[in-house]
Amino acid sequence: METPLHIYFFSGTGNARNVARWFSGVAAERNIPAETIDIASIDRKNIDPPPRGSMVGFISPTHGFNYPPAMMYFIFRFPRSHGNKVFLMNTRAGMKLSKWFLPGLSGLALWLSGIVLLLKGYKIVGLRSIDLPSNWISFHPGLKEQVVESIYAHCKGVTEKFAGKILDGKRVLTAFRDIIQDILISPVSVGYFFVGRFILAKSFYATDACDKCDLCINNCPVKAILTVDNRPFWSYRCESCMRCMNNCPKRAIETAHGYIIGIMCLFNMGIVLWFWQGVGRFITIPPNNGWAQTAVSLTGWVLTFIVMVVSYRIFHYLLRIPVIRQLFYYTSITKYKFWRRYRPSRKMISKLQ
Ligand SMILES: Cc1cc2nc3c(=O)[nH]c(=O)nc-3n(C[C@H](O)[C@H](O)[C@H](O)COP(=O)(O)O)c2cc1C
Ligand code: SF4
Ligand code: SF4
Repeated sequence: METPLHIYFFSGTGNARNVARWFSGVAAERNIPAETIDIASIDRKNIDPPPRGSMVGFISPTHGFNYPPAMMYFIFRFPRSHGNKVFLMNTRAGMKLSKWFLPGLSGLALWLSGIVLLLKGYKIVGLRSIDLPSNWISFHPGLKEQVVESIYAHCKGVTEKFAGKILDGKRVLTAFRDIIQDILISPVSVGYFFVGRFILAKSFYATDACDKCDLCINNCPVKAILTVDNRPFWSYRCESCMRCMNNCPKRAIETAHGYIIGIMCLFNMGIVLWFWQGVGRFITIPPNNGWAQTAVSLTGWVLTFIVMVVSYRIFHYLLRIPVIRQLFYYTSITKYKFWRRYRPSRKMISKLQ
């Protein structure tokens, strides 16, 4: 018998994976066979079209107000439909303040992928964001276990209610509630896609605590970590999903705030300014010429990108020198004890299954 429900998920730290499991749990209660598929473990370029009459679901975290590129490209390449039903979900950066659950922001996440699937002939029956705990520990310490537990229990209920309605044949487009804020924030998602994510990918490094166990390398969902100079090296494939940093058994992965601010921003801005001052001596760029202005900003972006690539190489090279390593270490806020990692406990997860 064909499986009537196929749920494809991408997950860095487990939130989206758990939503996929809760959804398929509701399907099991209704005796609907469901398959949950981690897109990191399959050949994403060769997917069979969904069987006629089956339902497809996509569940992914939100990265920079959009789906992460791994999920976005997967949906872009996904086979066309025979009118299959589809639902889309994104997990976001949920928080809790006193007894209130605070939502994250989706931006383009559901809309862009939704439009692509509509154009491929799918019928959208569900759009829902789930506000699980934020895993973005480059920016804030991981939430306390108690708070994580409370948000998880709340989100499980929300997911099951949504799944129940979808599987009962209803159409649930809850995401429309957020459409205005999503549109307003969308320019940021474009900036994140073209620039922000590359800077983030280059903010990780392994400290002296690393015992070269290679767990981060083997567990990376997009195989983005290489070994260079006998230490982990983050390539541009990195989706900044935070799995490596949150799960390193030696807590040896840090976000290099000192490097990002000191070298990447200041050094980069300096080089770009210096370049334009040099150009200004020979060429006058007409202020009213749109083409000339576009060429100027494109050149600026290309230059920024080149400096970014070169500076991470230099940074990685400098990590060989003990005193410089210490300098980067003490300017990484994530190094300090109070900066918790985000790792929902197995006990809590299995209690909720
Ligand atoms: C690089 C990065 C960017 C993020 N961007 C957003 C965002 O734009 N909006 C949001 O609500 N949450 C954002 N988050 C939070 C995650 O989407 C959220 O914690 C999600 O539940 C993680 O799911 P996972 O455990 O399946 O990876 C971001 C997290 C990371 C690591
Ligand atoms: S998981 Fe941690 S200790 Fe193991 S190789 Fe990666 S950085 Fe080093
Ligand atoms: S390198 Fe780390 S943060 Fe980047 S995609 Fe791999 S596991 Fe995620």
